[in-house]
Amino acid sequence: MAQQVQGVIAPGKNEPVRVETIIVPDPGPGEAVVKIQACGVCHTDLHYKQGGINDDFPFLLGHEAAGVVDSVGDGVTDVEPGDFVVLNWRAVCGQCRACLRGRPWYCFDTHNAKQKMTLLDGTELSPALGIGAFAEKTLVAAGQCTKVDPEVSPAVAGLLGCGVMAGIGAAINTGQVGRGDSVAVIGCGGVGDAAIAGARLAGAAKIIAVDIDDRKLETAKKMGATHTVNSRSGDPVEAIRALTGGNGADVVIEAVGRPETYKQAFYARDLAGTVVLVGVPTPEMQLELPLLDVFGRGGSLKSSWYGDCLPSRDFPMLIDLHQQGRIDLGAFVTETIGLGDVEQAFARMHDGDVLRSVVIL
Ligand SMILES: NC(=O)c1ccc[n+]([C@@H]2O[C@H](COP(=O)([O-])OP(=O)(O)OC[C@H]3O[C@@H](n4cnc5c(N)ncnc54)[C@H](O)[C@@H]3O)[C@@H](O)[C@H]2O)c1
Ligand SMILES: [Zn+2]
Ligand SMILES: [Zn+2]
Repeated sequence: MAQQVQGVIAPGKNEPVRVETIIVPDPGPGEAVVKIQACGVCHTDLHYKQGGINDDFPFLLGHEAAGVVDSVGDGVTDVEPGDFVVLNWRAVCGQCRACLRGRPWYCFDTHNAKQKMTLLDGTELSPALGIGAFAEKTLVAAGQCTKVDPEVSPAVAGLLGCGVMAGIGAAINTGQVGRGDSVAVIGCGGVGDAAIAGARLAGAAKIIAVDIDDRKLETAKKMGATHTVNSRSGDPVEAIRALTGGNGADVVIEAVGRPETYKQAFYARDLAGTVVLVGVPTPEMQLELPLLDVFGRGGSLKSSWYGDCLPSRDFPMLIDLHQQGRIDLGAFVTETIGLGDVEQAFARMHDGDVLRSVVIL
């Protein structure tokens, strides 16, 4: 029978979010209902609320979550009720042209639940990134559930569901950071700090953190930054060049999602270096660059969707490394909050007070 649970919805552009009763249908073929235990607040949730992703209001927010499988629909064999899972927003299809070419992390036809969750009056909800996990329970495609070791805390595991995976993956998968590389990361929120932690894991020799907020730079040092640059107090491109023998960094990761910071990343990399855009721009943003510079500086300009991760490969591996003490995923959890505190958490994120607020259910 369909279940009624509490969830956080964004009713309309820039309107405050609120807790509402939502209806979660029984899982259909290939679907699963998951009892959410923890869900982090990501900047992308705020983008949704502000209308920066699309206009499909009302949204059921939250997408960085871990929980326990409650029930599964017909044909689901990979997970069963009781499994501890991290939710992912790119359930690989195995059949599209990217998957068939052996590059499933680019999958062009990722799966979500087919049925809709609704409000009590029948209004259909758009779950953020096909997840919607600021809710006691949510409906997803079974492929969005990745089983991980239940020994790890849900607040920590859930972070792999989005920002932390996106950041680590931007460094190790998309940027292919290697031993001895110099790396600069522009924007040191949850995603940027995860890129810093990923660069350290990959053996980068120099890791330069850039932000406009000194508090963020202090945290970035704890995550592995060897140098910090406050870009309010000077040109970050010059500062990064000065720290890299006048050359620029081998890999520059943009984790803000703005044209001006992208330009900084573009010019702060060494010749033939790599720029990785993991920050998400909004629809009105435009970029202008001299085409001759794009050619003349060589190298590669890449975007990182979800850190080019494969959840089934990367989530359990990172949980393992966390449990061995080789990466501290717990350091990303600044505070734990309740379902009714999401609006406040957005304000704290906006003010730069937190890396991650995590809703505990
Ligand atoms: N590509 C993906 O798959 C993916 C996944 C998750 C999040 N994201 C995106 O990554 C971005 C960062 O997310 P987050 O959760 O870390 O956000 P956040 O708000 O926690 O962090 C953003 C950081 O950027 C800093 N910043 C803002 N303007 C800056 C500037 N001009 N120069 C330098 N630093 C600046 C802020 O001080 C803050 O520390 C967002 O755009 C988010 O939507 C992308
Ligand atoms: Zn595919
Ligand atoms: Zn996210």
